[in-house]
Amino acid sequence: MSTTKIGIDDIAFATSHYVLDLAEIALNNHEDVAKYYVGIGQSEMSVSAEDEDIVTMAADAALQILARHEKSHIRTLLMATETGIDQSKSAGVFVHSLLNLSKNCRVVELKQACYSATAALQFALGIVARDPSEAVLVVASDIARYKLHTSAEATQGAGAVAMLVKADPAIIAIEPTTGVYTDDIHDFWRPNYMSEALVDGKFSMEAYLTALEHSWHNYLVRGGSPINKIDRFCYHQPFTKMAVKAQTQLRAISGLSNDGQACLDQLAGSLEINRRIGNSYTASMYMGFLSLLNNDGSDLSGSRVGFFSYGSGSVAEFFSGIIQDNYDSLLRRKKDISHLNSRVSLTYEQYKKIHTYQHSSEGFDFVTPDVTRSSFRFAGVQNHMRLYEIR
Ligand code: HMG
Repeated sequence: MSTTKIGIDDIAFATSHYVLDLAEIALNNHEDVAKYYVGIGQSEMSVSAEDEDIVTMAADAALQILARHEKSHIRTLLMATETGIDQSKSAGVFVHSLLNLSKNCRVVELKQACYSATAALQFALGIVARDPSEAVLVVASDIARYKLHTSAEATQGAGAVAMLVKADPAIIAIEPTTGVYTDDIHDFWRPNYMSEALVDGKFSMEAYLTALEHSWHNYLVRGGSPINKIDRFCYHQPFTKMAVKAQTQLRAISGLSNDGQACLDQLAGSLEINRRIGNSYTASMYMGFLSLLNNDGSDLSGSRVGFFSYGSGSVAEFFSGIIQDNYDSLLRRKKDISHLNSRVSLTYEQYKKIHTYQHSSEGFDFVTPDVTRSSFRFAGVQNHMRLYEIR
């Protein structure tokens, strides 16, 4: 087995052009806004414009990484998503093209609900272990959509995270021990003929916590670190309160008290970006990790982070990593905050119009309105081919 440290060398995010304050949904669904702000721990959600999709957000996130790193070492691009745009062609191939990566590169798309970015990360670690001179670009990008006026509506969102995986990583070295768990259930799924997910909300929350317990036990049995040796936790966040519930549960089954701040202190930083973006499915846990790095408030060098990745359906994994010494100098805090603050606010009526805007599913040509200020835009479809523009 390789003794070289391998992990995440750089991490960046992107989100949509628009944002909706959840007070707008509360008002229109006749709910108390505290149910969203406090009950599920969400204040806003990102809403993509008509000319944004998983490809434009993924390319936008990855562009920030390529501005700093040599492209020629990237021989693999792994694209994780559950918002697929084609049944055959990987969305990653469009991203590869927009980023002008070397043609000597393998590109593939991975799917398993919100879990697949973790599969991509684990596969990337394996590729780099075989040849430490290679780097892998992992991109997770999703748009979470539920039907209007359902209880899931407030848990939508949109975002992408790009990560460069390489040997001697600058941000975090991923440890080899993992705990995995798979169970064939229907807590959340999206048949090919639907543009919104179907979900059994309460069951999905139970299933998430059951999967946490099983993957945690599997992690421990395989030699993972005990809970008191893990300094921070980062969970998949369909909404931030779910991460708090998960942390409470993990501490309880480990015999730790949940009185006081200890439970929250270990994950509070990881909730901040997600609270404003909403669920970004595959990107969500990694968005939480970036949020932790940006917002924890203490020096995390040498800290062990425990990660819990959950994808409905379901597949889950618990793993850990050690934050590297100079991570702080590599963060883009100011840019990240301005990215969130510069989203354009929608009224409920504007959001509803965008939510119901459907690209032709009949195979007709169409052109999208020019809205996004991102470096890339989805221009429409011609002869069944998706067209993208670089600005
Ligand atoms: P709901 O059933 O309408 O909400 O929808 P609720 O009535 O249970 O209220 C939510 C919380 O707010 C509760 O807190 C209430 O007490 C509280 P809890 O008891 O759970 O701690 N509350 C208030 N607090 C303060 N002031 C008030 C107030 N009113 C209520 N006035 C549900 C919630 C999450 C079920 C819904 O939004 C939903 O179905 N979301 C989608 C499914 C989901 O996110 N599931 C999470 C686990 S599965 C997962 O993570 C995978 C996923 O990401 C997909 C993938 O893998 O691809 C979804």
